[in-house]
This record gives sequence, C-alpha cells and structure tokens, in this order.
Amino acid sequence: MRRALPLILFAIGLVALGIAAVVVLVPKANVATASSVGGPFTLTDQDGRRVTEADFAGRTHLVFFGFTHCPDVCPTTLQQIGDVLQALGPKGRDVKALFIAVDPERDTPAALKSYLASFDPRIVGLTGTPEEVAAAVKGYRAYVRKVPTKDGDYTMEHTALVYVMDGQNRFVNALNLARPPEAAAAELAKML
Ligand code: NI
Repeated sequence: MRRALPLILFAIGLVALGIAAVVVLVPKANVATASSVGGPFTLTDQDGRRVTEADFAGRTHLVFFGFTHCPDVCPTTLQQIGDVLQALGPKGRDVKALFIAVDPERDTPAALKSYLASFDPRIVGLTGTPEEVAAAVKGYRAYVRKVPTKDGDYTMEHTALVYVMDGQNRFVNALNLARPPEAAAAELAKML
C-alpha cells in the first residue's frame, strides 16, 4: 500500500498535466472549441438577483466553481483571486470574479453572501436550482461530483480552474495562480 502511494500520486499528476495541456492547447488549436467553453446561464446572485452571462459581458472577468463548505482549495483560491484583483490596481476596479456554487443545496444566496464577506467584494457569488447549476457546470465543461464522507456528511469534488472570460463571454485561458499575484495580474491586465 505504501509503495503504491507515490505511483498513484504520479498517475494523478499525469492526469492533471493532461488536463492542463488540453486547457492550454485548446484556445490556440481550435478557436471554435475554446469559444464553446462558457455558454449561457441563469443563476441567482448573493443578493437574490436573477442574473445571466449577459450581465457580465462587456469586460474581461473570471469564473471559478466551488462551494462554501470547501475546506481548502476554494478559500485559498478566492483569497488568491482577491490578491490578483488588488494587484491590478485602478485598472481592476470593475473586474468581476464569479464564484459559481456547485453545492446549491447548502449554498443559498444568503450562505454565499455571508461566506463571501471575507473576500474581495468584486467576487460575485452565484447559485441556483440544482438544474441551473448543472447547466452552468456543463457549459463551462467543469467537473463536479458529490462525495459522501464517513460522518454521513458529504463534500464536493470540483474543477478548480480559474477561467478567464473575455468581454464576449469567450474563454481566453485558465489563470495560473501558482505565482505571485503581481505576475498573474500583469498577465490579466493585458486582457483588460
Ligand atoms: Ni473547493
């Protein structure tokens, strides 16, 4: 068992690399494919307003899927997104980041509002009915899976990509946050 672990980790790494390669290559290799990442959605924001993708068109924005009970990846990523937005300075004043809840059962608009109060105010929480969320997940070709935990509770596995979408709601690329926020902001600034 112990010997198998490094192999398993290596295999997971390979799969992750494969996914990263697809994500990086798609926009260059096939514009039609890249532009089909995203797509229409109708969701409810943390203030209870019904919104669609059209409400965020007109300028470059970020999209991230997650859930408020996420122990690690989501809060870290939301903090990093906030750091990048901050590093953009005045140029980033109107840049929005959409946090689309993959756990609509627990993530009501009120739950999102309370959770997001700890993060940059440019991060908008979006949720909806399970069907509405599923449509958004499918549109962005994200991966989401509900996983039962030993204590009878559940957690959500989900894609942790930060999508950069342009003003026409076309997928540009995945924002790499594994670097100082200033570096990610410099790349993002070129797309604003
Ligand atoms: Ni998460």
